[in-house]
Amino acid sequence: MNDNIFLIGFMGAGKSTVARCLHRCYGREMLEMDGVIEEREGMQISRIFETYGEEYFRRLETELLLELQERENLVISCGGGAPLRACNVEAMKKSGKVVFLTATPETVLERVRNSHDRPVIEQNKNAGFIAELMEQRREKYEAAADATVATDGRRPEEICGEIMEKILKFQN
Ligand code: S3P
Repeated sequence: MNDNIFLIGFMGAGKSTVARCLHRCYGREMLEMDGVIEEREGMQISRIFETYGEEYFRRLETELLLELQERENLVISCGGGAPLRACNVEAMKKSGKVVFLTATPETVLERVRNSHDRPVIEQNKNAGFIAELMEQRREKYEAAADATVATDGRRPEEICGEIMEKILKFQN
């Protein structure tokens, strides 16, 4: 199975943690979109937003996803906004399967509370705002997903097992 695995979902849905686990347990090479973009730009995501604006960041995301069409056997932790653009989802589908990780607003809040590198929610770190934005995005996440996996209260190993089980079904 050489298909890439694209992990999508809201900020704090556990994409990075699960990607690390798929790397550890299934030997998948791991790539974190935000990490690659930060490295290339030489600055943190929040600084990119501040300096060049969100649209500039979204273009970088699209360029990176277009490059990834040529790669295989990766697990990619996507930025939470990546599946909102149809061309990004199209690029993901060209080389792999898309897995939507879900979490409740309360779980998300708990996971992002102490981080300060998420400009989209930095000024509004509360369950109400998170729930509203999540709801606005839900339709696009669901439309992009080949498989959906819940993360609330579960260990990464358990989540990875369910992902691999669901992904392998596409082989038959
Ligand atoms: C964003 C999510 C972030 C990062 C950027 C924008 C979003 O990634 O790409 O801050 O719009 O949801 P994570 O989902 O990895 O936090």
